[in-house]
Formats: sequence, structure tokens, C-alpha cells
Amino acid sequence: MDLSGKFYKAFSDRQSAIEKQYGPKQAEKQHSKGKLTAHERINLLFDNKTFEEIDAFVTPADQPVEFGKVERSYGDGVIVGHGKVNGRLVFAYAQDFTIMGGSLGIVHAKKIAKIQEMALKMGSPIIALIDSGGARIQEGVASLSGYAAIFQNIIHSSGIIPQISVIMGPAAGGAVYSPALTDFVFMVNHTSYMFVTGPNVVKEVLNEDVSSEELGGAEVHARKSGVAHMIYDDEENAILALKKFLSYLPSNNVENPPIVNDDGSVNEINEKLRGIIPEDPNKAYDVKDVIAQIIDKNSFFETSELFGANLVTGFARLTGKTIGVVANQPKVLAGVLDINSSTKGARFIRFCDAFNIPIITFEDVPGFLPGIDQEHSGIIRHGAKLLFAYSEATVPKITIILRKAYGGAFIVMNSKNLGGDFSFAWPSAEIAVMGPDGAVAILYRKELAESKNPVELKKELVKKYRDKIANPFIADESGYIDEVIDPAVTRKKIISALNALNNKWVKVPARKHGNMPL
Ligand code: HXC
Repeated sequence: MDLSGKFYKAFSDRQSAIEKQYGPKQAEKQHSKGKLTAHERINLLFDNKTFEEIDAFVTPADQPVEFGKVERSYGDGVIVGHGKVNGRLVFAYAQDFTIMGGSLGIVHAKKIAKIQEMALKMGSPIIALIDSGGARIQEGVASLSGYAAIFQNIIHSSGIIPQISVIMGPAAGGAVYSPALTDFVFMVNHTSYMFVTGPNVVKEVLNEDVSSEELGGAEVHARKSGVAHMIYDDEENAILALKKFLSYLPSNNVENPPIVNDDGSVNEINEKLRGIIPEDPNKAYDVKDVIAQIIDKNSFFETSELFGANLVTGFARLTGKTIGVVANQPKVLAGVLDINSSTKGARFIRFCDAFNIPIITFEDVPGFLPGIDQEHSGIIRHGAKLLFAYSEATVPKITIILRKAYGGAFIVMNSKNLGGDFSFAWPSAEIAVMGPDGAVAILYRKELAESKNPVELKKELVKKYRDKIANPFIADESGYIDEVIDPAVTRKKIISALNALNNKWVKVPARKHGNMPL
């Protein structure tokens, strides 16, 4: 196209100026820190040449007072637009750290708000690629109000469109709340960090020395705080994983997740499952091995892998359709429920419920974790979240009791009276008020104290308890579960249960909202 005519002079001048702005010098600033540029990130995320940028030429607001300097730039430090990811419409914004540290001024904020509102109107996911020093200091309260508008939009869109944040640099101060409000947070090892107050403030207030990495690096948030759901070693892998992750999700709350072609390579009958649970009830095993034998081949996408690892959560597929998996993990803390695993499970279940993803629960739980620390830190309050989330969810809910299902934990993990649609148990299941040791100690305290051979008596009573009470057959005969099944047919049973639940419709009475124990 010939742009030399007089009408096109201003147009082509601006094109050259913006090309210069994003030239190799800017790119080097990012690359030298092991980071990609905002454009490189966008290009990785979107299908080839499908991204359409808007507001590329907006300029920053005038500075209210002389303090520091607002750099005159095109775009005000953020790229916003839409395009296709795996062929589906997605909106995104990517902050550009090379322009005033990706700081959020009012124009920058208005661009983000505009794209958020478009994403909501179109019913499409929105991705935030965050690399920012937070509120732009020079613009004062205007930038704070910009953040407030962004938070408000996230909250309005919550449960309507999937919102995902990828932290690819700093996220500091109140700015951390925009990712925290979204559904999932991805982080990159060693180049991203999140904290409300940084190492300098920690030093000033508490006289404690801590590095950015130790305070709010990806590993810390994935393992300890639970703020990050997924972490990756570099940005490219983070974005590729995000693209895969999106393939499990519907575009909005009135759509179903996309169905991928199932190659039919997984047999409905799998005899390997018969031997997967150790005969010794105190022996651990990896529940992920069980999951892998049931779902479509290699379809498991685990979330929050390192946090509350005694409960496994993640998305998978059955005959190409997305399911949400929640599973006690006997390999970690014997699969007990504690504070972290309860909150992790509750949030995951609520996401599945909001986005029409059936929940499949694999249960092997000895109970809630006892102890002063857990009680004083509020296991009652946090365990109640999991209970609330399971009960409140109206998507199809199916439970497979693999082994232990004791006490309150039996109820919480999607029992039928809590609204579970189907509950199947393997013959190895132990369903009772409590484990054999505890039950015998309480019911036979006197007899054990008076016995000449308490060890032998206890052994006998434990065996009797297991045979008579802690098995799946009593629950089966009294209808508290639907069926004791051959483990080999588990996949088949879940698929036919999901087919039966295809048109599940639960009418929830009108109310403003329930009052989840937060
Ligand atoms: C304006 C900023 C800025 C900010 C960074 N820059 N943060 N400009 N407002 N908030 C500018 C720097 O002046 C510098 O400009 C350029 O960005 C790169 O920053 P550096 O400091 O050189 O980079 P680095 O050493 O990598 O350090 C990055 C950083 C640090 C850790 C993010 O810049 C920093 O601590 N910034 C302040 C973080 C913060 O406290 N933000 C406010 C949070 S409160 P030049 O011209 O030199 O290249 C908040 C309120 C939100 O966000 C409220 C919501 C409720």
C-alpha cells in the first residue's frame, strides 16, 4: 500500500514512531532480565496473526502536579486487544514494563477496563499478563481509582467469564489484588513476584531481611500461600500451558466446555484398577495413578499441585468432555483434610460449578487433621468452606469411595445426603463414623483396661470392626451409597452416570447470595 500521499503522512509518522518505541533497545531491557516483551507474550498466546490491538496510540494523562515525570509514550504501557486462542475468542492485556515500569496510570487503567467490559459483553475469557510496578506514583489518586475500576470489573465478571492472570514480573502493593480476584494465577519462577509490602517495608517495619524471591516468588506462592495455582520455569512454558489450560474451559457460564476428539484408546474396563489399592489399609499409594487409569489418556491438568497436596484438584477429560477432579491423596499426610486442602478444594469446586464442569470425587480420607495448630487456625471455619462448596454446587457430582471414608470427612466429600448425585464404592472402601483404632478405643476402653492381653483383644476388635462396620456393604444395603462396584468398571460407571446427569437442572430458590463461611 502506498502511504506517501498527503492524507497518509500523519498516519505513517505515527506508525514509524510506535515501531521505534518498541524497537530492539526496549526488547533488550526485558530480555536482559530473562523476560519477554509484552508483544512477544501476546504473540505466543494468540493463534498466528489473530491478535487485534486496540488503543495502541492513546497517550498518558497529563501530570496533575510536578513530581517525577510521566513519560510521553503511545499506549501508556499496556497492550490490550482480542484474538483467537485455539480458535476461540479471547481478550487480553499485557503490561509493558519498559514504559514507566508498566505502572498503572489512569489511561492505562481505562484501557484495561475497556477490554474487561468487552470480554464480559462478548462472554469470552480474559487473560491478564502482569508486569508492573503498581499504581503510577506521579498520577496519585487517579491511578488508585483506576485500580478500583479494574477490581470492580473483575468482581462483576466473576463466575461469568474465566479470568486468568499470569504474573511475569513484579506485582506489588494493592496491585496484587487484581490477580488475586481472578480465577487462576500462573507465575514464572525467578522472574515474577507478588507481595502487599515489599522487602524494604518488611525491613523498616519488622527489621527482617528477606529477598523478593523469598517473600513473594513463584515457589512461595505455589507451595505456601496458595496464591499461585500453576508455576513454570520460563514465560514460554507458562503461556503454552495457559493455552492448554483454556482448552478445558467454556468461554462463559452459559456454555459448556469444548469437547475434544476422544481417540477411544482408553478401555471402559480396566482390570489394573483391581490391584491398585494396597491390601494393607495403612499403606499409602498415589491417587494420581488411579485417576490416570480412569480418565482419557494424559488428559489430567493439575491445579495447585504444590499447595495442600493432600487433596489433588485438576481438570481432565472423559470421552473428550471436561471434568473437574477432586481426590484425597493418601501419599501426603495420609490424605487427611486440613485447612489448606479444604480451602483449595472449596475454591476449585466453586469454579467448576460456575462453569458447568461436572465434579468427580475420588475419596480416601481418614478424617480432618487433629491438633492445636489446626484447631486454633480455624479448621472448623475452613473445613466448612469445603462442605458449603460441595453442597452448593449444582453441576453433576459423582463420588468414588476408594478406601477410607470416615466421619465428617465422609459427609463433606460429596456424600449423597449432601447432594451428591451418584456415590460408588470399591470393595476396599471403609465407611464408618471413625477408623477402627479410635472406635475400639472408645467403645471398649473398660474392657481393654481390664484385659490381661489388651494387644490381642484390640487386634481382635479391630478385625471385627472392619468386618462388621468399616466396609462398604452396610452403606450399600441401606442406600447411603448407590453401588459397590468392581474397580475395573469405574470409567464405564462414571461415563454412564454423567450421561444420565446430562440434563441435570436444579432450581435454586431466589436469594441475594448464600453466606459462605469465609
Ligand atoms: C511510577 C514506576 C513505578 C511506579 C516503577 N516505576 N514502579 N513509575 N510508578 N509505581 C519506574 C521506575 O521509576 C523506573 O523508571 C522503571 O519503572 C523501572 O523501575 P526500576 O525500579 O528501575 O526496576 P526494578 O529495579 O526492576 O524494580 C521494579 C520494582 C520497583 C520492584 C517494581 O520499581 C518498585 O519497587 N516500584 C514500586 C512498587 C510499588 O510500591 N508500587 C506501588 C504499589 S501500591 P526509569 O525512568 O528509571 O526507567 C499500589 C496501590 C494499588 O499499587 C492500590 C490498589 C488497591
